[in-house]
Amino acid sequence: MINMKTVFIILCISLYLGSWQLVDGVPSENATAFNDSTDMNPNGSSELSLLMREMLEHAQLARKLALEEKINPEIPESFNKIHTAKATDSETKNSYYDTFADVYLSAVKSYSTSKGTEIVSSYNNLVNTCLACHSTHCPGPVPRIKKLLVP
Ligand code: HEC
Repeated sequence: MINMKTVFIILCISLYLGSWQLVDGVPSENATAFNDSTDMNPNGSSELSLLMREMLEHAQLARKLALEEKINPEIPESFNKIHTAKATDSETKNSYYDTFADVYLSAVKSYSTSKGTEIVSSYNNLVNTCLACHSTHCPGPVPRIKKLLVP
């Protein structure tokens, strides 16, 4: 089960890694690239990008519902593909990726069973797990994801 403390620790780790990356500046050259050169979406979005858009829509709906103290109890099947879905660049996923993915999945699970006044905090918890992963992977959408937090 995921709780605020876990998310906080993960956020700290990822902020630390994030700042380290800023200092480092260059993407690591020695990360193991996959030999597989087949791209399922040569002209379009990666499998992971498409999944991310679904996750974004799920979060946007969850936000709307949370403001009315309601939840979306459904967890789309496709979310389980987060581990295997191919990113645009095979070097995007670092060694923390799977940990962040699991933290996100368990946050979705606890969100989908939250009740009453805990809904908003468990929803924000969920959004923080998006931010945790994004601070070390693909920082572009971070400002957009931050706007999803309920103040
Ligand atoms: C485990 C890591 C991880 C988690 C958790 C995660 N993301 Fe992502 N996200 C990524 C990566 C990596 C990419 C880049 C995908 C690519 O380049 O193919 C991405 C891309 C995106 C994009 C850009 C998609 C596009 O159109 O190309 C958006 C928007 C996004 N994520 C939103 C979210 C939201 C909202 C959440 C939480 C509900 C979330 N992400 C959770 C890793 C993550």
